[in-house]
Amino acid sequence: MQSNLSPKLGDTPDARLHVGIIMDGNGRWATRRGMSRLRGHEAGVEAIRRVVEAAPGQGVGALTLYAFSSDNWRRPKTEVSALMALLRFYLANEVEALVRNGVRLTVIGRRDRIPEGIAHAIARAEAATAAGSALHLRIAIDYSARDAILNAATRAAGIVDLTRERLAELITGEKNLRDVDLIIRTSGEKRLSDFLLWEGAYAELHFTERMWPEFEAQDLAEALGAFHRRERRFGGLQAIAPEEVPSL
Ligand code: FPP
Repeated sequence: MQSNLSPKLGDTPDARLHVGIIMDGNGRWATRRGMSRLRGHEAGVEAIRRVVEAAPGQGVGALTLYAFSSDNWRRPKTEVSALMALLRFYLANEVEALVRNGVRLTVIGRRDRIPEGIAHAIARAEAATAAGSALHLRIAIDYSARDAILNAATRAAGIVDLTRERLAELITGEKNLRDVDLIIRTSGEKRLSDFLLWEGAYAELHFTERMWPEFEAQDLAEALGAFHRRERRFGGLQAIAPEEVPSL
């Protein structure tokens, strides 16, 4: 088992927690204040910065954020374009800080439908941050968990000795990614919306009324506090500590 302090990512599973967040409520937060929905998404980027900064200090080793689902293409063209522009802005402006803070960024989801410039910016950001070990930040863009499973199943079709580990690699695009321990959804909605269906098989769920743009480090701490008070048994009868979570 590797050290908690200097885990070598991609080697054996990280003993630190993997948290997924469905960042919901940007639009409502903004319209309730008489602002455009875009302003809500911009405020959502600020919340991302706060959480990425706070996560390593709260025992989180991997953080998967749902930024744009494959179903979000159904939104008005103006909102989709605004979200893509924000992503472009984030990638152009954030990489330096991510490198400085030891954050490794990877993006999950389809790359063939997003603007080419963003796909290239993602590849550059992933390469630039590859050595980060303080936090693995995974941003889901044009992401659908069902599609990830379907694609993996298609690729796995010819493998005779297919194991859970190999299938997980194909689904997540990562060797030894820790299963998701906790999924947080903001804004009072209580559903998974096609997010991390494989990796989150045993995830604890935390729903909060807080709108995403209002989400602070303290909200993450509260969600993790509630998580640590829960008893995780993974189908057995005894509680299992986070560092002893069984692998696939
Ligand atoms: C849900 O709120 C939020 C989204 C669909 C987009 C999340 C995007 C960001 C936080 C910013 C862009 C991300 C990056 C990484 C730069 P909603 O619009 O569905 O809110 P509503 O339910 O109140 O309408």
